[in-house]
Amino acid sequence: MEKNILFPQTGGFVHGGDYNPEQWLDRPDILEEDIRLMKKAGINSATLGVFSWSVLEPKEGEFHFEWLEAIIDRLYENGIYTVLATPSGARPAWLDAAYPEAMRVDRRGMRARHGGRHNHCMSSPKYREKVEIIDRKLAKRFGSHPGVILYHISNEFSGECFCPYCVKKFRQYLWEQYDHDIEKLNAAWWTTFWSHRYNSFDQIEPPFENGETSVMGLNLEWKRFTTWNTNDFMKHETGVLRSVTPEIPVTANFMRLFGGLDYRKMAPELDVISWDNYPEFHNDRETLAETMRETAFQHSVMRSLKAGKPFMMMESAPGLVNWQPVNKLKRPGIHRLACLQAIACGSDSVQYFQWRKSRGSFEQFHGAVVDHIGTDDTRIFREVAEVGDLLKKIAPAAGTTVRTRAALLFDWDNRWAVADTKALSQESKRYEETCRGIWEEFFKLGIDMDVVGSDENLNRYDLVVAPMLFLLQPGTAQNLKTFVERGGQLLATYFTGYVNRDTLCYLGGFPGDGLKELFGIVSEEIDSLYPGDRNGIQMADGSIWEVRDYAEILRVQDAEVLGSYTEDFYRGMAAVTCKHYGEGNAYYVAARTDAGRMRPLFEKMMKDARIFAQDLPEGVEYHERSGDEGTYAFYLNCTAEEKAVSGIRGKELLTGTRVDDSLILPEYGAAVVKRD
Ligand code: GAL
Repeated sequence: MEKNILFPQTGGFVHGGDYNPEQWLDRPDILEEDIRLMKKAGINSATLGVFSWSVLEPKEGEFHFEWLEAIIDRLYENGIYTVLATPSGARPAWLDAAYPEAMRVDRRGMRARHGGRHNHCMSSPKYREKVEIIDRKLAKRFGSHPGVILYHISNEFSGECFCPYCVKKFRQYLWEQYDHDIEKLNAAWWTTFWSHRYNSFDQIEPPFENGETSVMGLNLEWKRFTTWNTNDFMKHETGVLRSVTPEIPVTANFMRLFGGLDYRKMAPELDVISWDNYPEFHNDRETLAETMRETAFQHSVMRSLKAGKPFMMMESAPGLVNWQPVNKLKRPGIHRLACLQAIACGSDSVQYFQWRKSRGSFEQFHGAVVDHIGTDDTRIFREVAEVGDLLKKIAPAAGTTVRTRAALLFDWDNRWAVADTKALSQESKRYEETCRGIWEEFFKLGIDMDVVGSDENLNRYDLVVAPMLFLLQPGTAQNLKTFVERGGQLLATYFTGYVNRDTLCYLGGFPGDGLKELFGIVSEEIDSLYPGDRNGIQMADGSIWEVRDYAEILRVQDAEVLGSYTEDFYRGMAAVTCKHYGEGNAYYVAARTDAGRMRPLFEKMMKDARIFAQDLPEGVEYHERSGDEGTYAFYLNCTAEEKAVSGIRGKELLTGTRVDDSLILPEYGAAVVKRD
């Protein structure tokens, strides 16, 4: 087991955030004060340049880098490292005026006007050229500065563009995907339906709002293409930077389980995964523990993009945000808890948006470490400084990683295909929530599952849950079979194995591609229930699982029936099955039921996989990070009541005290124990 501190310069965890000194260049006093305050808050990194283009290059070809150099120098002299961003996330007005092709065309075919951000065309040759020029200059000027530790590419990639360049690239992309053979594409997309056959790739258009949106294969390829093209743009930027300073790692900040891009395809291009974390704390739908659990899931998604390596929490709000439906203040103590959660989940950084509140414009009321009042005498500043302090106390845990033997299979293509298919009930498909619900149920047992893709090597896991895996990538079925054969515990659900990567249905019974043999069942029909409809599953242990939304009708071939429907014309028919296959077990749950009801089944799988649950009080999270020197156990109390946990021995790092078996966590309190 190795330990790999992301940035050894910092001696542990990165603590910092987005810093926009270009907004304050006429206030040297404020810039000076920033340094003093950063040191006071235990800040060791600042992210510079995210949206600085119009100051770095105020007119085409006229570059002003002196101010940035002065800031990087000053920060470095004071022990603060720079995360240097490329400015491609927002364009100066001169650029759009000179090169309108940089502005996106939307689904209706309408070209955007200048303004906003995160809205450039990923294909525009001119935009790429302009980005390349400024990126190269930045890398040459600052890449070898000892203060620069990481490049941050653009900002939160997102969106799609329907301009002529993108349409052309899409056709080219399809031409390559389908081996230059339009008949291959016609077959894969089943275009004879409604007479949608193409004679050549030139006839294909992306799914314009008033155009072709009824070919599922086309819709899915457009999603894939958008990821591919965004990745291509990102690679253009990373390529420039790496050609100048290959030694500086690169990242791009992701956004939780964002629906627009398949992050798994982008992750290999990056040295470090980072993401922006903005939970809706204290909302009126859920408890704080629930909000925290949901966040833990998002952390796991990010961590698993490069399993076995720490990731970074690139942004988070020190207090409130300004874009949620209700911008509620983070209550005292919650900041500390949320920061510790990020670390517990495998982040090696706590970073904020933003260091200092801007005085005007869109985000003038978005929380920051330093408010308009301008002093350190604020609740938020004190809470941030407290985090700075505790990160030093737990620094020995930096570079360790989360290791788990359980995984949830979540697939972006599947997500898109499920959302797009004209089947089930349009309102209640809820693929993401279904996956998360199951992940959270394991999490309540102290199991922090990885979240992996269909083509992941499953060898390092002993337990895998693959809910609603409607679309099978080539090789997925075999991957699952091999996993079970060598002793894995697998659980799949209704709506598994209906279509292939092109969204063509499998013939000969679902689940297709050999999965019928693995599960020992055939799914003959699927019933969608109205919101008020209920069915039930009578389990062998006497319990009844409530069924809503979906119920598949199975023909059992050679599986053991563990539960049967209680109602309707399929009453008495199999709903939960298990087939012993090779050395392992393949479970099939044919209907939707709350993840909580399935707990006994999860516990049985864990027992067989020799994965041990933690005995946790309600609302307490358990996490583990390990390295060569041992294991760090994190307990987070996400409730307003004192909680006791037991079964732990070691040194608690936040207080420096010894723990012998039991531990009291005050309200919203946490403990980080280096296990004996
Ligand atoms: C992020 C973005 C930041 C800032 C922040 C506000 O999504 O990357 O630039 O806008 O949101 O919460």
